[in-house]
Amino acid sequence: MTRQVLVLNGPNLGRLGIREPDVYGTATLADLADTCRAAGHGLGLDVAVRQTDDEAELIRWVHEAADTRTPVVLNPGAFTHYSYALRDALAMRTAPLIEVHLSNPAAREAFRHTTVVAGVADGTVAGFGLLSYQLALQAVAALAGIPQAPAAPQAPAAPQAPAAPQAPERAR
Ligand code: DQA
Repeated sequence: MTRQVLVLNGPNLGRLGIREPDVYGTATLADLADTCRAAGHGLGLDVAVRQTDDEAELIRWVHEAADTRTPVVLNPGAFTHYSYALRDALAMRTAPLIEVHLSNPAAREAFRHTTVVAGVADGTVAGFGLLSYQLALQAVAALAGIPQAPAAPQAPAAPQAPAAPQAPERAR
């Protein structure tokens, strides 16, 4: 049986593709959803992706996840930085919660350095574009204890050439 996971996206993330592509890349929300569903498929997760610009709607989805013990991957958008209402809703969670960001807020404007969500999440993945979501789904699978197929065996590493002899260190 595959485990249901909600990937929730907050304000302005419906504009991906045309929104500040230098910061957020050119992938659209539909591309993000495809990536998440494909990643989920490989991990034994049944992923539903939603986006809203409405704080109340996002909070209702968080309540729904708590009531149904559904793990959540959440990109709260700018709500990350100031929404105590969202944080309080997330504090009632009953299943894993991973905070994600496409960009790395810690490397951006000072107001983005505060997250009111991180303190109630299992962890945060930020700065890797769509890969942030794939890594977050891996974390959900691990936290939810979903058994994963063993990784394919790696080709043996090529033998290393011996290091070039170093000039003897000069006495100081
Ligand atoms: C974001 C970062 C937030 O600071 C910003 O308000 C967003 C997107 C990200 O995914 O990088 O809307 O959450």
